[in-house]
Amino acid sequence: MNVLLRNFAICLFALLPALCWAEQREFNLTIDEVTIEVAPGFTNKVFAFNGQVPAPLIHVVEGDDVTVHVTNNTTLNHSIHWHGINQIDSWHMDGVPGVSQQSDIKPGESFTYKFKADRPGSLWYHCHVNVWEHVATRGMWGPLIVDPKNPSELDKSVTKDAILMMSTWESAYANSYGKGGMPADVADYFSVNGKSFPFTQPVRVKKGDVLRMRFYGAGDETHQMHMHGHDMLVVAKDGYPLASPYYVDTVPVGPGERYDVIVKMNNPGYFVMHDHVDKHMTNSGAMMGGPMTVFEYTDVKMDDWYAWKDKVYDPNFFYSESLKQGYGLFNSAPFMGKPVEQGRRRK
Ligand code: CU
Ligand code: CU
Ligand code: CU
Repeated sequence: MNVLLRNFAICLFALLPALCWAEQREFNLTIDEVTIEVAPGFTNKVFAFNGQVPAPLIHVVEGDDVTVHVTNNTTLNHSIHWHGINQIDSWHMDGVPGVSQQSDIKPGESFTYKFKADRPGSLWYHCHVNVWEHVATRGMWGPLIVDPKNPSELDKSVTKDAILMMSTWESAYANSYGKGGMPADVADYFSVNGKSFPFTQPVRVKKGDVLRMRFYGAGDETHQMHMHGHDMLVVAKDGYPLASPYYVDTVPVGPGERYDVIVKMNNPGYFVMHDHVDKHMTNSGAMMGGPMTVFEYTDVKMDDWYAWKDKVYDPNFFYSESLKQGYGLFNSAPFMGKPVEQGRRRK
């Protein structure tokens, strides 16, 4: 009997922390005015989380308690909406000024968001003040990846992860904070992770890799992402795993949407992926530009005439390296902008 009781007590002590203890994750974000170079000769003034576009990766596990301290160093008001978090018992953290949050975060002010990562998947975060401008044309968005507590066999088979956030830019207002994003305004640059071809990057793989791509519609237009030479298995929509995954060669990614696809990299060669909306493959009307990438199998010899033969490779352009580093908030130096000079920011 004593032994039974003792075993029961040991069991209880071992289980309780696992049942009751949620991991605490605490992060800092600033919002800064910087300039990024989206395409050759085209720079855009942005409101950048931690000075970068896209914003830093936030990577946590389902059930974690997340605290984010946000400081607004810019000249306009902002907030953060945690898109996909249901804010169960924490609706005051939903980031909508006047509804769930008393006011915008004003220039020079700070605000602390606290919430539980209450659902897994490819979530994201973005400003919820003047989204027409701040989200559609000023880069106020970034990935929030919540890993499931119990990953599926498919999840476990992934050997390479990539995040692709599609967005739009309006060159007419690139240098005018406070303007842009209205229905009559014209988007004329289109990007993946804040860059238009030729400033985009390849995805390097080897035969046998299982690639997961998480597509995000971070801008204001639908992108039809078409991958050559491979079958893409759509496994999740807006972070929700699909009961019946299905194959496509073109993924439609509309504003706010996310699609997770899994691709078996079993066709060695060099294959492109591009937006099938033709105008998106231009930079201000000039061919060719936009959200374009190439899957480069490292085991296949590069041709001498390959367009990106001499390109300097950034292995973290699709967050692949950051995603390998476990949990936390990950800044990325190549996404950093240049500070906007004081006194000239309104021009
Ligand atoms: Cu904002
Ligand atoms: Cu949203
Ligand atoms: Cu094509």
